[in-house]
Amino acid sequence: MRIILLGGPGVGKGTQAQRLSKEYDLPHISTGDIFRQAIKDGTEMGLKAKSYMDKGLLVPDDVVVGIVEERLAKPDVKEGFILDGFPRTVPQAEALDEITAKLEMPLDYVVNINAPAEVIIKRLSGRRSCRSCQEVYHIEYSPTKKPGICDRCGGQLYQRDDDKEETIRKRIQVYEEQTAPLIDYYNKSGKLVEVPGDKPIEEVYSRICDILS
Ligand code: AP5
Repeated sequence: MRIILLGGPGVGKGTQAQRLSKEYDLPHISTGDIFRQAIKDGTEMGLKAKSYMDKGLLVPDDVVVGIVEERLAKPDVKEGFILDGFPRTVPQAEALDEITAKLEMPLDYVVNINAPAEVIIKRLSGRRSCRSCQEVYHIEYSPTKKPGICDRCGGQLYQRDDDKEETIRKRIQVYEEQTAPLIDYYNKSGKLVEVPGDKPIEEVYSRICDILS
């Protein structure tokens, strides 16, 4: 199964992708996680990406497309994949169409998760992520058993640099201008399914599973 999780910042793409990845045993490919890892590793690409991410802006299409093309050529995606945070612009979606056509791996579903701006701001201000395995938590909605420690791997939790209110608002604006047009793009292809994201995590998850099964 080949799925895209579409939606604005903080709607729960990463949270749902992690669960779906375990349930369906599919690789979770998050371009945001790839960039955060590159920043942690101090690579040239990571430094370049950071300069955009810190301002809430998108990393240029050519950089992102190259990374995804390389990732989708790996053998573990043969049975499918979950794309989280890609594509984010119409040119990225067109590039993905070319890549999947070349690899003969057509998309099955594009799941669009949506939630109002107030919900997004509350979620992102309380989000904590694991430095080691990138597992996502929320101080109120999805807390760890021990404060500050990842339940999955025991790693340390941290707050993302781009989760400041001013940057969150910029990310929402960028989403509306550059990513929301993809709803229409995928609607035309007949692959788009809508899922309300302003419900509890389990409810959103079970709605997505119903669609996929
Ligand atoms: P990226 O990491 O992809 O960030 P994003 O799309 O802004 O999404 P988030 O990770 O902030 O949110 P999410 O929807 O995954 O929500 P989550 O599950 O964590 O990208 C970061 C940056 O990298 C971009 O700004 C850009 O600069 C660059 N980038 C990445 N991809 C790019 C691309 N393709 N092109 C160009 N640039 C790119 O949930 C949020 C919080 O809410 C968590 O705390 C979670 O526990 C909680 N939560 C989740 N669901 C629920 C629920 N249903 N109820 C209550 N709480 C919930």
